[in-house]
Amino acid sequence: MEITGKTKIMFVLADPIDHVRASAVLNAYFQSIGDDVAASPLHVLPADLGAVLASIRRMRNVVGFGVTIPHKTCVIEHLDETTPAAALIGAVNFVKRTVDGRLIGDNLDARGFVASLAQHQIAVRGRKVLQVGAGGAGRATAFGLAEAGVRELTIMNRDGAKAHALAEAVSQRYPETKVSAGRAEARAFDLVVNTTSLGMKADDPLPLDIEGVGPDTAVSDIIVTPEVTRLLARAAAQGARTVGGKPMLDAQMALVARFIAR
Ligand SMILES: NC(=O)c1ccc[n+]([C@@H]2O[C@H](COP(=O)([O-])OP(=O)(O)OC[C@H]3O[C@@H](n4cnc5c(N)ncnc54)[C@H](OP(=O)(O)O)[C@@H]3O)[C@@H](O)[C@H]2O)c1
Repeated sequence: MEITGKTKIMFVLADPIDHVRASAVLNAYFQSIGDDVAASPLHVLPADLGAVLASIRRMRNVVGFGVTIPHKTCVIEHLDETTPAAALIGAVNFVKRTVDGRLIGDNLDARGFVASLAQHQIAVRGRKVLQVGAGGAGRATAFGLAEAGVRELTIMNRDGAKAHALAEAVSQRYPETKVSAGRAEARAFDLVVNTTSLGMKADDPLPLDIEGVGPDTAVSDIIVTPEVTRLLARAAAQGARTVGGKPMLDAQMALVARFIAR
């Protein structure tokens, strides 16, 4: 890839930075479609976020940037606008910089997640889903699943109050979906989704017990690295269909390209 003065620049803001894969995925995608856009990871501490965003407003060849842990929620106060999807989820993962330096945030996690399931022939409409995790990504997947028409959604989280709050918010917006919070047996569900960060490290415990899960249940883990988490390896060994987090990220690339187009 040749970066010149004509290249449109993107960043991916994160702290820590080592695990960030989105910039490589962005570069591969833009190269594949022949767009002159280059992305770089940018290590930004939470305390510096406001100053960095004020600078980006003035960088005229920057078309946008991704934001990931820990900036997805706190970035909102520094933006000029957020899309309805980002406002509902309460988190932003891509920001467009307009030609006049305005910053508009969107959240593409939900649409990317649902698209990745569809690509793997994992149906969600009318199905019963167990989601583990109620963090930033978990909020997106929960709203995405309800929007996609799941019949029942159970949300389990270490911090139970967060699971309850998310269940309440999803239920209010999508009253036709039966949403609850609390512990449940994975084998009773059509789809089990891990949205926690448990599985990023090799010695992490499994995010939930999947004893008894087999071919009738699909298991999704939205962690990007490693591509095959211990949860996915265990589920596949038990005969379950599986999908990882890389397809969710890949599915967002076409959405990003459309979002940042000026
Ligand atoms: N594939 C993609 O496109 C994509 C997109 C976004 C995120 N992700 C991945 O999704 C994961 C979560 O990201 P996030 O932005 O939602 O992070 P987050 O907002 O920090 O939320 C982390 C979640 O993990 C739970 N958790 C963390 N440590 C735990 C532990 N030791 N035991 C039990 N639960 C624990 C948290 O529970 P508490 O609420 O109890 O703390 C919370 O539910 C990350 O691996 C991220 O890379 C992937």
